[in-house]
Amino acid sequence: MHSQQKVGAVIVAAGSGERMGGGDKLTALLSGEPVISRVVRTFENCRLISRIVLVLSEANLERGRQLATAGGWSKVSDICPGGRRRQDSVVAGLKRLPDCAWVVVHDGARPLLSEDLIRRGLRAAEATGAAAAAVPVTDTIKVAGDDMLVRETLPRRELWAVQTPQVFRRDILTGAYNNLGDDVVTDDAAAVERSGQRVKLYMGAYDNIKITTPGDLALAEALLKEHGR
Ligand code: CTP
Ligand code: MG
Repeated sequence: MHSQQKVGAVIVAAGSGERMGGGDKLTALLSGEPVISRVVRTFENCRLISRIVLVLSEANLERGRQLATAGGWSKVSDICPGGRRRQDSVVAGLKRLPDCAWVVVHDGARPLLSEDLIRRGLRAAEATGAAAAAVPVTDTIKVAGDDMLVRETLPRRELWAVQTPQVFRRDILTGAYNNLGDDVVTDDAAAVERSGQRVKLYMGAYDNIKITTPGDLALAEALLKEHGR
């Protein structure tokens, strides 16, 4: 990547957090700091990031602006509303980064990412223009039908649990989403894969968890304590 090329971050945090079962997971406190603030702070501190677009639900826009002012988030150029599905929120954020050659997409619900993870993602994406953080799966993964009968056990050696950050050349990702039409994907790399482009995986971190259920918040708190961060 050319050092003059701008890198923008899209932080998607416009979900409704249904599996959290009440309470907003993005403004929930983690070591006294809102989850989303911790995420933005990591991107703010990373020197490779030029600017940040924060994608929020309509209900959280005002709260987001307050946090931005209070936190002195100098790189956050846009706080914009998301869409119905995660991919709609990513596309909404991408539209705000026309001047960036590279984009780093990250889930607002993954507060334990590190600057190192962002840096390594940018490096990993250099050759292919697309890279995703991932960790080897530790469970054995089986394929079963609706009848719960096992059809297959997949070779674990080849299986990776994919996370964010995911890093792309902006033209590759916007092209992939243009091609996708109405198909649903669960991560951005899948859109790029479908457009026939190569995606490189790079080593993520087991503690880069996604806050999905209430227990995850307690787990994140414990992981933070353990690492003294
Ligand atoms: N997300 C988004 N816009 C959506 C859906 C999800 O920006 N329409 C974001 C979430 O805010 C989260 C990330 O995508 O940071 C991963 O989604 P997930 O963990 O599924 O969060 P939610 O969709 O909010 O949770 P749930 O599926 O339990 O409702
Ligand atoms: Mg969801």
